Amino acid sequence: MGVETYLGTPNGSLACAPMDDESHHLKALTQILQNAYSGELAAAYAYRGHWKSVKKPEEREMIHQIEQEEWSHRAVVGSMLAGLGSKPRRFKEWKMWLIGRTLGALCHVSGWFFPMFFAGQLEVKNVSEYDTAAGHAKGAGREDLVPALSHMAITEKEHEIFFFGVIREHRLFPLMKKIFKISSAY
Ligand SMILES: [Fe+2]
Ligand SMILES: [Fe+2]
Repeated sequence: MGVETYLGTPNGSLACAPMDDESHHLKALTQILQNAYSGELAAAYAYRGHWKSVKKPEEREMIHQIEQEEWSHRAVVGSMLAGLGSKPRRFKEWKMWLIGRTLGALCHVSGWFFPMFFAGQLEVKNVSEYDTAAGHAKGAGREDLVPALSHMAITEKEHEIFFFGVIREHRLFPLMKKIFKISSAY
């Protein structure tokens, strides 16, 4: 099964040729990693604002630790991108920097529940992003990247469990769970 792509020919015309499976997976992997790299930047800055805004010492400490883990994910993803001969996208970096800083600042005025809920929801997406990336790495013949990608998916799952765990008894959680279709595991 191939994905159609257009390739240049020696005389400058365009010919239609199938993109092989490995190339397809490599392209998808690279795009996910570029998104993840900038996503980790936004997450780290958002969590920096978040941990500074919460009062309970154990929650501050845990979210601070999560911020550190997002920075280390960003470093791992950055080196994967470099190894694939690619690099982060400048516009996405700028956009996610702005989003992260804005969310971090909003944590100081948006109360306790909502930053926890949306952090948990973000983590659900992160788990799926790294699982999908691991699948594409396998398809691209880059099995060497799979353990680190799977490990990051596990860490994101731990983050998700933490954020949803602390709000599971909150009166707004059942309603928000329904609206955002969060798994009934919580
Ligand atoms: Fe992360
Ligand atoms: Fe995370």
